[in-house]
Amino acid sequence: MTIHPDGIPPHGGQLINRVVTPEEKQEYLQKADTLPRVQLDDRAFSDLVLIAIGGFSPLTGFMEQKDYETVVTDMHLQNGLPWAIPITLSVTPEVAEPLNEGSWVRLDDPQGRFVGILELTQKYQYNKTHEVKNVYRTDDEKHPGVKVVYEQGEVNLAGPIWLLQRDPHPLFPNYQIDPADTRAAFKEKGWKTIVGFQTRNPVHRAHEYIQKCAMETVDGLLLHPLVGATKSDDIPADVRMRCYEIIIEKYYPQDRVMLAINPAAMRYAGPREAIFHAILRKNYGCTHFIVGRDHAGVGDYYGTYDAQYIFDEFEPSELGIVPMKFEHAFYCKLTGGMATAKTSPSKKEDRIHLSGTKVREMLRSGQLPPPEFSRPEVAAELAKAMQIQQ
Ligand code: ADX
Repeated sequence: MTIHPDGIPPHGGQLINRVVTPEEKQEYLQKADTLPRVQLDDRAFSDLVLIAIGGFSPLTGFMEQKDYETVVTDMHLQNGLPWAIPITLSVTPEVAEPLNEGSWVRLDDPQGRFVGILELTQKYQYNKTHEVKNVYRTDDEKHPGVKVVYEQGEVNLAGPIWLLQRDPHPLFPNYQIDPADTRAAFKEKGWKTIVGFQTRNPVHRAHEYIQKCAMETVDGLLLHPLVGATKSDDIPADVRMRCYEIIIEKYYPQDRVMLAINPAAMRYAGPREAIFHAILRKNYGCTHFIVGRDHAGVGDYYGTYDAQYIFDEFEPSELGIVPMKFEHAFYCKLTGGMATAKTSPSKKEDRIHLSGTKVREMLRSGQLPPPEFSRPEVAAELAKAMQIQQ
């Protein structure tokens, strides 16, 4: 892969910026009371932000029907670029009915604040079952991503968007580093190869192991936890962030890792979401992306390595970011360290691996997971948070 001195090109070649200037914002604010209004839920709001800051480059708005359809059926946009997850603003027919194509819509965040503009170009109906069977590979309403699609409105509103201003994150302002800024930071640090790590969990030893294996071959790690909407039993973002800070301080070389938040909502779409996550990190300036066991999976909906196999359905050049694939990692009693079946001759009984559910159970009952599974400082922080929650 040839890397430009300014870093890896964003998806589609140009980093999108749809945040208006303060003057433009004033103009929009003056029109606030005259525009029809649509209220965004948490996921649509984080999509709005990600489009505006370039995380979803080359998207400049919510998808029109043609893009939507080729993304759902063929994992490509109309212009031929890979894209695996539909980005849509779905509303009820009652909300859509009074809105006219060709006009502006005022977008309010979940708290009712005027945050953006949609230049409405299209309203269209879509087939939910068709979408979920393709994107989530199941139409089971118990799947948390499928459930969201079935609960959302039946009409997609499409068109370019504008964000009125980029507010600091209320909880993690210092870790809100947008794509233009991560790119600038990588350049300043002199990192030419950067591996991105997606996570919605506190870092456990298997995560640490695969990150560090990857770090042996690249210049830096972007530890990029997702802090958008997740299902209710996932560990809250503030607890996870404390765990990341703790582990980085003690166990990582400070000058080789950067912690930043990913504002995206979790879809739990497994393989398709792995592609989506990789493209998102490419826009943040990563050249490599870690895909481990059951990436972005939930329950038993996906095979352990489906999220790795899906990369074979694309030409490496069209994705433009290199997946680093890792097998299921565990603590190996035989070799006395972290390993995978690729590097250790151990049998099942020599391996220490705990499921997320098991760890949550232990923490709730005040037990700390063993140091082979979790660094003790992280385990202690998690236990503290769980006890307070109860
Ligand atoms: S995810 O939904 O964000 O993918 P999680 O935070 O658990 O969930 O995983 C983050 C990344 O680590 C993913 O790439 C996942 O595949 C990988 N991963 C998690 N646990 C393991 C493990 N034991 N062995 C190998 N890879 C793992």
